[in-house]
Amino acid sequence: SYEKIWLALGLGLILLLIGSVTYGAVGPGVAMVAADEPTVDPTALDEDERFADPRVEQVGENEYEAYVVAYQFGFEPDPIVVPANSTVTFMVTSRDVTHGFEVVGTNANTMVIPGEVSTLTVETSEPTEYGIICNEYCGAAHHGMEGKLEVV
Ligand code: CUA
Repeated sequence: SYEKIWLALGLGLILLLIGSVTYGAVGPGVAMVAADEPTVDPTALDEDERFADPRVEQVGENEYEAYVVAYQFGFEPDPIVVPANSTVTFMVTSRDVTHGFEVVGTNANTMVIPGEVSTLTVETSEPTEYGIICNEYCGAAHHGMEGKLEVV
């Protein structure tokens, strides 16, 4: 009967809508995570070998990796201590909300999103000290969220 045909058409349309909504939500979300931004479970950082113990690790002759966790309202480790005349790759993630990671007075600057690892590589030269600030509004004490980078 016509009734059944209309019912079937209506159901098909609904399924089509659900399909397009799902596709729309998943498609761009997946594309936004770049290859150099591996994902991480923000609720299980204690079990992640990179972030359970935020630290600076030597990975080559003059190469270092700094595993940094941003949180309301600070950075870990603090200070971040790296050698002069070296290449340092920061891998930064968040334990709670979206933060920023900006090394004041340099072009080193990235957004820090829970569930993602932002990577940022810098070359250090002479021993000096930099401030690190959060430049994304992240809550009541956002303006006081600071850290320190020591090049030694
Ligand atoms: Cu963290 Cu603003």
